Amino acid sequence: MAKIRAAITGVGAYLPEYRLTNDELSTMVDTSDEWIMQRIGIKERRILKKEGKATSFMGAEAVKELLQKTNISPDEVDLLICATITPDMPFPATANIIAHKTGIHNAWSFDLNAACSGFIFALATATQFIESGRYRKVIVVGADKMSAITNYNDRTTCPLFGDAGTAVMLEPTIDEVGIMDYIHRVDGLGRHHLHMKAGGSLRPASCETVENEEHFVYQEGQIVFKYAVTGMADVAAEIMERHQLKPEDVAWLVPHQANMRIIDATARRMGVNKDKVMINIQKYGNTTAATIPLCLWDYEKQLKKGDNIILAAFGAGFTWGSVYLKWAYNSI
Ligand code: UT7
Repeated sequence: MAKIRAAITGVGAYLPEYRLTNDELSTMVDTSDEWIMQRIGIKERRILKKEGKATSFMGAEAVKELLQKTNISPDEVDLLICATITPDMPFPATANIIAHKTGIHNAWSFDLNAACSGFIFALATATQFIESGRYRKVIVVGADKMSAITNYNDRTTCPLFGDAGTAVMLEPTIDEVGIMDYIHRVDGLGRHHLHMKAGGSLRPASCETVENEEHFVYQEGQIVFKYAVTGMADVAAEIMERHQLKPEDVAWLVPHQANMRIIDATARRMGVNKDKVMINIQKYGNTTAATIPLCLWDYEKQLKKGDNIILAAFGAGFTWGSVYLKWAYNSI
């Protein structure tokens, strides 16, 4: 019997309208367009400014676009997984709120927290439900309102992040396309270098935690940079070797968009030319769980059925991983 694979059959996204440029950031902290472009490669990022709107709003908008593009009714959806580190609230899960907002009633849903690796971890999780034959329609959302946890007084972190919501549909196929393999890793020691200090059960919110600005991203940039370069490149190279993929066999590398220099280093290590690397960091910055699907959404029209695609991510945890997939459809 032919193996059932899980294939991405559509991509949706939502981007807030407001563009926070490097020039505007330069009026908020001691930085410049030149420094940010040279050291990170970001020109602007989108910020969700709508009153009372958060991650579930962006995720739901992306799911609505996805359902419309794939012509799938909310009632057909079996499961929705939301990768995020900026849930609307600690509980209930943002996935539940997105399901409610999009009319998904015959399903269950949960959040998955793996920071910048969230989308690829959720994709691997969703794949199991399809490959097992249990489900036929699983949605993976990658959404983060990073502006809610970014300290706009800290020049070392505030240029990095942006807001976005994304969603992909996974469906079964017996064609030689879909998710072929993945390698995912975690090292909890990395938590010391990238985390949010307060707001959890270790340090519940208090006047002191607010005064100490502990509800924002804390990052030791140089250390994270070093681990990100090796972590992402190592697993991407390993998955290529495992499948005897040569650089010329790879149609697209889709790296997490944290820093242009990390993207370049990963592509170099894999031997993949820059014209085969999906890059949109300059427009959106680091949208955490949304970066990889946002690239797929941006480049969707250029993708062809059967294209070999390598996804690679690194994030807080530390978490990192790589997915090898064959694109499943031609866009019209
Ligand atoms: O997605 C999750 C994983 N996260 C990442 O992958 C991020 C990894 N890290 C990075 O991308 C980089 O480390 C940063 C972009 C965060 C920082 O770049 P860097 O080249 O590592 O800079 P640095 O921290 O070594 O700082 C170099 C200098 C310092 O000044 P001095 O001490 O040399 O005088 C900083 O104070 O640059 C200064 N600096 C800035 N200057 C202007 C730091 N941030 C800024 C800024 N504007 N925004």
